[in-house]
Amino acid sequence: MTDLDDVDAQLTAADKEILYSIPERTGGGLYYNIGDGRWGGSTILMALGLKERNLSGHIWTVDTYHRYNPSDVAKYSTKHEVDSYITRCKGRSSEWEDKLKDKWFEFIFIDGGHQYECALEDAAFAMTHSNLIGFHDTNMNRVSKAIQDSGILEWRLIHDVVRTKVFERVSK
Ligand SMILES: C[S@@+](CC[C@H](N)C(=O)[O-])C[C@H]1O[C@@H](n2cnc3c(N)ncnc32)[C@H](O)[C@@H]1O
Repeated sequence: MTDLDDVDAQLTAADKEILYSIPERTGGGLYYNIGDGRWGGSTILMALGLKERNLSGHIWTVDTYHRYNPSDVAKYSTKHEVDSYITRCKGRSSEWEDKLKDKWFEFIFIDGGHQYECALEDAAFAMTHSNLIGFHDTNMNRVSKAIQDSGILEWRLIHDVVRTKVFERVSK
């Protein structure tokens, strides 16, 4: 088992634990990560969660990569030997919505653009493509307002740490 402290990420230890635990909850499957960041941390944590539990699954991750080159980010997934679990998509999440519209994801993690409009649009896409959605940086007012306005507060809140909230759809 990987020591999660060894996974570079723009995430707290508690955020990391949540992402690493997701495959156990879903039993594997297809995930979508919005916002790969400098080290691809959230993506790698989900991939490690799959690999170290022998679960099959795959992660699509989107980022503009305007600050970090995808091939530099890929060095970290190579280090953790999880490249085969990951497909990296370059561009804004809004640009990828059409290409991903026919997919269903067992989990979506939203940590891309933190402007209100972007977080709200990502939430709207996620709510029609998954029953399990995580948001990062929920302590930021514009992210928390997007969460509030998205309607997802009607879902069940299953994780709530300082900067991460995960909601599960309540079946009717
Ligand atoms: C906070 S970082 C993500 C950190 C990452 N989840 C981790 O675990 O380390 C946010 C990322 O979102 C990307 N980003 C910003 N706006 C975006 C958008 N509209 N679509 C996709 N990615 C975006 C940025 O390039 C940045 O790399």
